[in-house]
This record gives sequence, structure tokens and C-alpha cells, in this order.
Amino acid sequence: MNVHDSEKMAGILKAKGYAETANTEDADLIIFNTCSIRQKAEQKFRSELGRIKLLKSKKPLLKIAVAGCIAQQKGRDILKKSPHVDYVFGPQNIHKLSAMLATNAMVCIEDNPEIQHTNLPAERKGNVKAWVSIMYGCNNFCSYCIVPYTRGREKSRPSRNIFEEICGLAEKGFKEVTLLGQNVNSYNSDTNFPGLLRKINVIKGIERIRFVTSHPRDLSDELILCIKELPKICEHIHLPLQSGSDRILKLMNRGYTYEDYIEKVRKLKESIPHIAITTDIITGFPSETDNDHSITIKALRSIEFDGIFAFKFSPRQGTKAAEMEESINEEITSQQLIDIVGLQNDITLRKNEALKGTHQEVLVEGASKTDKGKITGRTRTNKIVNFEGNESLIGRLVNIEIKTAMRHSLEGRLISQS
Ligand code: 5AD
Ligand code: SF4
Repeated sequence: MNVHDSEKMAGILKAKGYAETANTEDADLIIFNTCSIRQKAEQKFRSELGRIKLLKSKKPLLKIAVAGCIAQQKGRDILKKSPHVDYVFGPQNIHKLSAMLATNAMVCIEDNPEIQHTNLPAERKGNVKAWVSIMYGCNNFCSYCIVPYTRGREKSRPSRNIFEEICGLAEKGFKEVTLLGQNVNSYNSDTNFPGLLRKINVIKGIERIRFVTSHPRDLSDELILCIKELPKICEHIHLPLQSGSDRILKLMNRGYTYEDYIEKVRKLKESIPHIAITTDIITGFPSETDNDHSITIKALRSIEFDGIFAFKFSPRQGTKAAEMEESINEEITSQQLIDIVGLQNDITLRKNEALKGTHQEVLVEGASKTDKGKITGRTRTNKIVNFEGNESLIGRLVNIEIKTAMRHSLEGRLISQS
């Protein structure tokens, strides 16, 4: 979501005549688009901001802006603590970037109740895959999460605006869209999320539709039916579990039990047998015991996700969980994270190995970054596949026979192209 916000900022700047530079020293304007989901992201930003101070002292006309969730949270404080910063604006105020640059200094962190009606021209890289915002903000207030405080209340874009944006992308040659929202299952404007998917599914030129993120509580039977029936919806769902323990899920304010979750997984697998399911897990949530951790491990073994993102709990100021007292020893949490990642690595490899010998539809994205001389793309289930082929295939759907499986990617042989 942050990367797509940056694309919107780049779109605004391009329209104003700015051009991107690969060299920081050449820039007239530097925008830090910050993330505050965990402390680590915040630390990274702080050290970068410190480094840029020297540049500003050498080049006084250089303008520095801090955008994103840290900007939203700290506001004017950033200007006080870092006088070399000129502008501060939160994720709900990207549309003000142009007006802001006409001033000497500005802080824009107010709520934007009309954000669902702002259609910003994003400057995207390439023309194969595109992110498209379908909604903003979040109403869930999971107890550990800063997002509802920085991105505000949930607001859905009118389906017509989304439809038109995607038609424009199709005209430019884009083949795949990923619909973005903190909780896409609760999309609600003139239609609901399945209604939106049905509308988009008919856009000519778009071959694949993905979406993130789904909230397990709001995953409906109607949506499962859509994934099954609509040919362009890819067979992959990111469905954050966070913990296998009901006690922890309750403290997290997630709104479902483990039983509820596996019932949704059962329905998904029953309707769409080859669906890939990925998830997020948090370790070291306040008061988490060895027993809670073992329950999560058991859940991972039993569900067998295709992939997971695992994070150490990071207290975020202003959230409920940050006030919870029983914090967990850092060493224990680190070991738990190692256990979780180790277990999942084995599961992911095993699942990838099961694909050997199968034929997979791959959308070619570009030259492989890891495998020189090869090109790369993804299966419908979102797995990376590298194979020998000509770059003229970029943007095309090809059929690949999977030859080798690794943990983070597959290798294959080109069988045919469409
Ligand atoms: N600490 C650790 N992980 C977090 N996430 C969100 N907030 C926190 C936090 N305070 C994780 C959740 C979420 C993902 C995007 O980031 O797992 O699904
Ligand atoms: Fe954060 Fe929960 Fe909203 Fe996701 S659903 S953005 S974890 S509050």
C-alpha cells in the first residue's frame, strides 16, 4: 500500500514537471514515504533522515518531505526535532502534495473524509502488473495495529471510479491488477466486494485479478464462489491468521476463533482445490505463553500454508496492546520466530516440490533478478517461476513445465505461449 502511495506521489510530481533521479545528490525534492507498522521500519527512517541532513546543509534549496504513517502520527513534532524537514503530510493528504510544494513549509495531517473520491494519477513501473486502491483506512482496531489511527476510518471508492481506472490500465497494456485495501472483504460502496469483482472481471485486456488483504472474519461464501467461478480471479488468498490461540486472538480483537478460521480454509479448499493460502503470524504478543506458541505451531502444521510472513510483536504507541503489561522476553520471542520460520520453510519447500512435473500458467514480468539470463513471472497461485525465454515474452501468459522447486521460487521449461 505504501509503495502504491509512492506511485501516486510520483504521478502528481510528474504532472508538475518533476523527473525521477537515480542519484540522491541530484534531487531538488526528497520525499520519505514512511511506515510505522513496526518499530524496525521507524528506525530505518530515522537513520535515513539523519543522513540526509548533511546533504541539505550543502544544498540549502533542497526540499525534504516526510509522508506516510510516521508523518501522520508525529506531525509537527517532526519539524521541531528535524528542522531540515520542510513538509509533513499523512497518507490521507497525498492529494495536497502539489499545493504544498507551492509553500515554504507545511504540515498536512488532517482527516480526509472525501478520500474515496480522490482519483490520483499513479506513475507505475512497467506495464504488466498494477496496484489499484479500492478502499482506504480500517475500522477493525486489532489491538496491536497502528493503521486505523494513521489511515483513518474505512472508506470505499465508488465501483465506477475503480472500473474506469482499470479500463485505463488495460488500454495501456497492463495484464494484471491487484486490488488494495486493509480489509477488502468489507468493501462497501454502490456494491459489495464480490459485486466489484464481477464488474472488473469483464474488462477486456485484464487477464488476472488479485486482491489483498482479506480479513478472515469478513470472508464470505459469496466471495469464495466468486474466486471459484470468475476466470480472472487468481487462486491465491492472503488470509492473516496472526495466532492459532483463541485466547491471543481475543486479546488481539481479531473477531474470530481458530475454529472459525479453519472452517473458512476448509470451504476455500473444498471449492477451489488448488488455491494457495498465505498468512501473517505475530509472535511475542503480550502474555503469550509457551502453550499459545505451541498451538500456533500446531496450526501451521495442520493448515500447511503456501507461505507466511512472521513478525515479532512491536508495541505501537496509542494502541491497546502497547498498554498491555505482560510483555514477553525478547530472547524467547526470537527463538519462537526461528521455530515458526523454520517449520514454514519446510512446508513451503514440500508444497513447491509437489508442483514438479505440473504445467503452470505464468504471466511473464521481466528479466529474473536472481537467475541471470532467465526471465521470470508468477503462477496464478503467486509463486515465482524462472525459466529460459526471450524478453519479448514480457506481458504474455505462457505455459511452463515445473522442473525444479526451491523455497522461494520454481524453475521451469517453456512449453507454449498464448
Ligand atoms: N507488531 C507486529 N506485527 C504487526 N503487524 C501489524 N501490526 C503489528 C505490530 N504492532 C503485522 C500483522 C499484519 C501485518 C501487515 O503486519 O501480522 O497482518
Ligand atoms: Fe490493522 Fe487489523 Fe486493520 Fe489489518 S484489519 S489494518 S491488522 S487493524
